[in-house]
Amino acid sequence: MRKKLQKLIFASFTFAICFGVSAQQTASEIDAKVDHMLKRMTLEEKVDYISGMRIGGHGPNKWDGTKENKRLGIEPIKIYHGPYGIGALRYAKKNGTYYPSSINMACTWNPELVQEVATSMGKELKAAGGQSNAGPAMNIIRDLRGGRSMEYFTEDPYLNGQIAAAYVKGIQSPGNFAIMKHFICNNQERERNYIDVNVGERALREIYLPGYKQAVIDGGVLGVMTGYNTVNSSHSSANKHLIQDILKDEWGFKGIVMTDWSGSDDDAVQMLNAGLDLEMPRPKTLTSANVLKALKQGEISEAEIDEKVRRILYVSYFTGVMDAKPEIRPEEMTTPETIELSRKMAEEAIVLLKNEDDILPLDRDKVKSIAVIGPNGEFGAHFRNGQKSYQLLQGGGSASISPQQGRMITPFAGIKNASRGIEVTFEPGCYGDHGCTTIQPEFFTTTDNKPGLEAKYYANSNLNGKPNVKIDKNIRFFWQKTPEIIEQGNDKQNGSEDGFSVEWTGKLKAPISRKYTFEVEAQGLTKVFIDGKLVLDKYKPDVGWDRYAMGSAYLEQGNHDIKIEFRKSAARNQLHLMWDYGNDVYLDKAIELAKKSDVVIMPVGTSGSLEREAVDRDEKLNRSESLALSAAQERLIKEVSRVNKNVVVVTFTAGVVCEQWKNNVSAILYAGFPGQEGGNALASILFGDVNPSAKLTVSIPKSVSQFPDKWYSNKETISYDEGIYVGYRFFDEYKKEPAFPFGHGLSYSQFNYGKPNLSAKAKIGEVVKLKVPLSNIGTIAGKEVVQVYVQDKKSSEPRPLKELKAFKKVQLAPNETKVIDIELAPESFSFFSENENKWITEAGEFEIWIGSSSADIRQKVKLELVK
Ligand code: BGC
Repeated sequence: MRKKLQKLIFASFTFAICFGVSAQQTASEIDAKVDHMLKRMTLEEKVDYISGMRIGGHGPNKWDGTKENKRLGIEPIKIYHGPYGIGALRYAKKNGTYYPSSINMACTWNPELVQEVATSMGKELKAAGGQSNAGPAMNIIRDLRGGRSMEYFTEDPYLNGQIAAAYVKGIQSPGNFAIMKHFICNNQERERNYIDVNVGERALREIYLPGYKQAVIDGGVLGVMTGYNTVNSSHSSANKHLIQDILKDEWGFKGIVMTDWSGSDDDAVQMLNAGLDLEMPRPKTLTSANVLKALKQGEISEAEIDEKVRRILYVSYFTGVMDAKPEIRPEEMTTPETIELSRKMAEEAIVLLKNEDDILPLDRDKVKSIAVIGPNGEFGAHFRNGQKSYQLLQGGGSASISPQQGRMITPFAGIKNASRGIEVTFEPGCYGDHGCTTIQPEFFTTTDNKPGLEAKYYANSNLNGKPNVKIDKNIRFFWQKTPEIIEQGNDKQNGSEDGFSVEWTGKLKAPISRKYTFEVEAQGLTKVFIDGKLVLDKYKPDVGWDRYAMGSAYLEQGNHDIKIEFRKSAARNQLHLMWDYGNDVYLDKAIELAKKSDVVIMPVGTSGSLEREAVDRDEKLNRSESLALSAAQERLIKEVSRVNKNVVVVTFTAGVVCEQWKNNVSAILYAGFPGQEGGNALASILFGDVNPSAKLTVSIPKSVSQFPDKWYSNKETISYDEGIYVGYRFFDEYKKEPAFPFGHGLSYSQFNYGKPNLSAKAKIGEVVKLKVPLSNIGTIAGKEVVQVYVQDKKSSEPRPLKELKAFKKVQLAPNETKVIDIELAPESFSFFSENENKWITEAGEFEIWIGSSSADIRQKVKLELVK
C-alpha cells in the first residue's frame, strides 16, 4: 500500500514537472490565479507588460526581466545568463559554478547526469534570486566555425532532444523556467542580426526542430528565445509559421516566447500576430504606443494581448515569485558539492580521440616526469599579457561564467594535484590564441631616438590636415571617448561623420634575424609598413568580425622603419598591434623541457576571445584553414613531438582540425571547455583514475574544405542547400571521411557487442524493442555508449544512410556482460514529406545498426515494418 502511494505521489510529481507545473501547485490552481490577476489589469497595464525591462543597467541588484507592477503586486521574473552556470555576479554578488560547457554536457551522452547538473544549476539560480538562466542554448551545430558551437549541444537532432529535455527538467525542477534558444537556425554568428536563412521544410522538421520539440513535449520547457536571424524571409521574432503554427499550435507549448536581446523585428503587428509574447530586454518595437495603435486599428485584439499576458503571468506564478519575494542565499552557490558535481561531469565530458599503443593511462609507477607544454595549460604572460582570465579555458560572450580564480583548475594545476610525487613542469611553448602578443615599448624608438612611436592624430579619416602629435609607447588602444583622439572636445565622437585617423612612425627593433609574423586586432582599416613595404593590410572595416589580420616579413637583426596607418570606420575603434617574437624563446624552452621529460601533455586550443557569440571562427588570418590551431601551436606540437615520442595533445575548443599534426602524436583528448574543474578531471583521465566514456557530438572534419564553399556565408543570406544532410549525414551522403566521426570516443576498456535480439517484424506505430548483449572484455570497469542508428532500405524519398534514433550509456565491470534493453519510438522510422506536408512512415525493410560510434558499427539487424 505504502509503495503504491509512493508511486502515485512520484507519478503526479513527474507529471507536474513535465507539464510546467511546480510541485506545490497544479496547473488549474495557477490558471485560477492568472485569471484573477488578468481581470484586475487595465489594458494599458497589459500592453506595458509584454515588453521587458533592464533595471538600472548592470550592477549589483540589477537584472533583465519582466516588468514590475507595484499597483497590482506583480513581481518581475529575473533572467540571468549562462547556459552552463548561473551568471549572477552583478545581481547576487556571487556567481554559480562553472559547469562543463553545453557541448561537453552533451559529450557525456548521459541525460541523467545532465539532469543532475541542471538541477544543481537550478538550485543555484534560486539561491541567486533569479527565475531563469536563459538556457539551454541548443541550435544544431551545422558548422563548427559558428562562434557559439561550444554553447550548443550537437549536430544530431535526436541527441539534441535527449540532452535538452533532461536539461530543461533539471533547471525547472526547483521551480524556475528554462529558456531554449535561439529559435531557430541561428547557426552562424556572422551577420546574425541580418542573415536570412533559406531552409526547406523537411530540413526544419528533421534536423533543426526535433530537439526543440522534445524539450517542449518531454521536457515541458516554459521559455523560448527567438533568434536574431531571419528564417525564410520572416524574422525569427515575427515568424508565424515557426512560433504560432508549429511551436504553439502543433506542439502545445504553454510558456513565453521572447525575443533575443534587442533582436526584434521592426513590425509590431507581425510580431504580435506571429505569436511572440515578450520583447526583451526593453520595448523597442512593442512599445505601448505601437501596440495601442495596432489595437485601435483592429490589427490585433485585446483577447490576443490577454493570451500573451496570461502566458507571462503563468510562468511568473509557476516560479513562485508572485507568492514570495526571492531571497539571495550566496552560501548555496558554488559549494563544495556543486564543484564536485562539475568535476564529475567533466570526467564524463572529455573525449579520448586517439590512444596509440595505449600510451594512456599513464602509469604512476613508471612515469617520473611530466612536462605540461601548451598555452592553455596555465595562466601567464603568454596569455593576455598575464591576465588571469578564466577565458583561457572557457568560451566568451553572455554565456561565460567567471568562477573565483582560485577555483579555476588549469591542466597544469590538475595534473600537479594528481601527480603523487611525479615531477610536473609547465612551459607555455607559445602565445595563446593566434600566437602573437603586444609589441612592447622596448622594441620601439621614435626617429629622434625617444622610446615609443611618434603618433599623428587627424580629425578626419583620411590622414589629412594638421595633426595632433604625441608619442605612444605601444599600440594597444580601445577608444571610446578618450580625449587623446583628435576629436577631443567632441564627446560624441562615435557619431562624428569625419571620424579620425592616426599614423605612427618610428623604428622597430628586431632582436634577432628571422621571419616575423605581425597581427592586428582592429576595428578600423589598418596598414603596417616595414622598411617601406606593406606587410599587413586589414582592409575589412567590419566591427565584430574580421577583427584580425596577419602578415609577415623577414627582418635582419637591428632597427627597421615602421609606419602604421589606422582609419576609423565604425563607432567603436580599436587597434592592437602584436607580433610573434617571444615564441622562439618559448619554443626553445619547451623543447628543452620535452627532451628531459618522460611524457608531454600539450593543452592547446582557443579561448573566449576566439570562441564566443557575435563572432565566428571564420576569421582566416591569411591562413587557409579557419578551424585549425594557430600556426605557432601547430609548430609547437610538431617540434615537441620530434624530441619526445610520448606526446598527448589536449584540445580546448569546440573542435579543431588536426590533420596537420594528428599523426605526430600518440594520443589526443578533446576537452572542449570543461568547466572550472576541467584540470582535475583531465588529470583523473590521464592517470586512469577515471576511465574516459565521453563521445563526440559533432563530426570533426579533416578540413573545412570538405564542405562546399557555399556552406558558410559572409553575406546577409544563406541557403541551406544541403537540406537534411548535416553532420554525419553529410559525410555519409557525399562519401567523405571526417578526421573523427560523430559518436567517436575511446575507453581504456574494450567492449564486445553480441548478437542483438529483435523480432524481425514490427507494426508501424509500435515501439520496437531491442536487446543487445554487451560485454566489457577489458581489464577495468568502464562505460560504453551503445548507439543505435536506423537505415531505411527503400524509401519513396531520399534518406540519409543512417540516423541516430536511440542510445544508452552503460557501466560494466571487467568481464561483465549485460543485456541492454533499447526502445525505438515509432517515429524513428519516419521522414517528413514536403509534398504531403506531414510525417510519413512507410512499410518495408529497415536495418538497425548498433555501434560504438557512427563509423564503428558492430552489429546490423534487419527489421520489416508492416501496416
Ligand atoms: C544572446 C542571448 C543572451 C542575451 C542576454 C544575447 O546577445 O544572444 O543568448 O541570453 O544576449 O545576455
